[in-house]
Amino acid sequence: MEATAIADLAPVELNKLAQRLGNTPLEPIYLVIDGIPRKIHLKLESENPTGSVKDRTGYGLIQAMETRGLLGKGSIVIESTSGNLGVALSFYCKLKGYSFIAVVDPKTTQENLAKMQALGAKIEMVDQPDENGGYLLTRLAHIQELCDSSAAYVWTNQYGNPANPHIHYLTTGPEIYRQMHGKIDALFMAVSTGGTLAGVGRFFREASPATTIVGVDAYGSIVFGGPAAPRKLTGIGSSRASSFLTPDLYDTHMLVRDEEAFAFCRTLWQSGGNKVGGSSGAVLAACAKYLQAHPEVQDVVCVCADGGENYANSIFNDAWLQQQGLNVSQEHLGPVQDILYKLPFMR
Ligand SMILES: Cc1ncc(COP(=O)(O)O)c(C=O)c1O
Repeated sequence: MEATAIADLAPVELNKLAQRLGNTPLEPIYLVIDGIPRKIHLKLESENPTGSVKDRTGYGLIQAMETRGLLGKGSIVIESTSGNLGVALSFYCKLKGYSFIAVVDPKTTQENLAKMQALGAKIEMVDQPDENGGYLLTRLAHIQELCDSSAAYVWTNQYGNPANPHIHYLTTGPEIYRQMHGKIDALFMAVSTGGTLAGVGRFFREASPATTIVGVDAYGSIVFGGPAAPRKLTGIGSSRASSFLTPDLYDTHMLVRDEEAFAFCRTLWQSGGNKVGGSSGAVLAACAKYLQAHPEVQDVVCVCADGGENYANSIFNDAWLQQQGLNVSQEHLGPVQDILYKLPFMR
């Protein structure tokens, strides 16, 4: 739902919206690889209350802080966020009556900044890149400064709080398992903090150890190791390693370039389908390569962390791509010749 519309909701309506958390749909599509349509399922996290997988994380973090007695009257929740978690926390803080400060950076999309502000968040923007070329370390230093200045600040700490992976262990993993009737050959997820991958990975290790768990990251991110480099993809990647990910929780990881991710976002949309965000495009690009290398794989899920609305001024804007020097073309789809929503003989 649009943040401006959420901002106008009465408390009872806000509560109703909050109940739409989770149980997001799975949508089948076909990637035509080497002439063969290969069915995959998109887990559409854009269907959560504020439009991303981070609604789950935001809910889990606030719940955990409340359970530990760390939140009360006068508390100011604070978090470093590249966007989606900021929108989610803005929503949950509004719902619960806490103030919220989002520490963001120049890569945060205009769409997400507008959403956070509409939901009553205060925005603090850092502008000095850190030694890895990202802004994470600068954002964290700013949070430290604020927390040192007053006990009213409560940092939810998405990077180290076990409540982050735990909510995915409790919800995202079991939902996928149930929706696929327990039959999943391979599961693809983008990483930033690694919370989604760690929580879902842990659930599948217990419930379905034969499922191959694949972490997807951007070239230039150092979640799975270096080297660090600039990248245009947002939401996915980080300029430091994840504190949640241990090698037992996933089978492999794949790195995707900006142009590949954007090509999948744009082609999926041009094929008459959903607009998905950049990290979802990256997940599709990785999945396509994996399927080409594994003709035997049949039951596949790609977690699509957010929708394309956040990227109207970037991924889906030709002028922006040109300004960034990105020439996105069919060749960036790698092994995929086409994306289909229905096979020709389907009604
Ligand atoms: C669009 C998008 N994709 C993927 C992720 C990765 O999620 P996680 O932090 O759980 O690794 C995020 C996190 O912010 C995101 O916003």
